[in-house]
Amino acid sequence: MLLVIEQIFDADEVQLFRQHLNNGNWQDGKLSAGSQAIQVKTNQQLEDQSETSLTLGNEILKRLGQHPQFVSAALADKIYPPKFNRYQNGGHYGTHVDSAIMALPNSGDLLRTDLSATLFFSNPEDYDGGVLSIDTEFGVQEVKLNAGDLVLYPSNSLHQVTAVTRGQRLAAFFWIQSMVREHGQRSMLYDLDQSIQNLSTSLGNDDSEVLRLSAVYHNLLRTWAC
Ligand code: NI
Repeated sequence: MLLVIEQIFDADEVQLFRQHLNNGNWQDGKLSAGSQAIQVKTNQQLEDQSETSLTLGNEILKRLGQHPQFVSAALADKIYPPKFNRYQNGGHYGTHVDSAIMALPNSGDLLRTDLSATLFFSNPEDYDGGVLSIDTEFGVQEVKLNAGDLVLYPSNSLHQVTAVTRGQRLAAFFWIQSMVREHGQRSMLYDLDQSIQNLSTSLGNDDSEVLRLSAVYHNLLRTWAC
């Protein structure tokens, strides 16, 4: 499932993010590339452990933790602290797959990447190229979102970011280990939850069918969560 969640941050908030990012300390993206990625990556990344990166990353995690659609779609067990990248002057990231296992920066605990996320901080009209192109089971999907919008996609997908030939593309990116490892199961839980939310709006939380479906949702989650 490839899911777009719009307006995680509004225009004013995006503007603040951009200001902080523009004042940040940017490094060659190759510093953090794995052995496969290093040959195809020509972007820049904000210094990981800098105060700017940590503060902005925490803002993102806080917002997502309160976002019902994100919570329901990701069923996050662990989230890698968000990183920030910048593409300009032809910068791109050729086709690659994200590493399956990553060490969390502080604890060294391992995270299995189930879902990859990109949160856009530049508006599409402000740059040319910079398309996140994802190979899915239904073919290639091209993603270029409004500033403040987020895309979630399975980490097992081959993907690339095409060259930015005009302007600048700023984004945050991170990975999620989900409580539900199987994409098909997680996707069904998401659909079921969305329907339950809609039904409870029209029928009320205490409607007997809403209650029964809620029980099914939680019992499936109990069965599939690991
Ligand atoms: Ni990637």
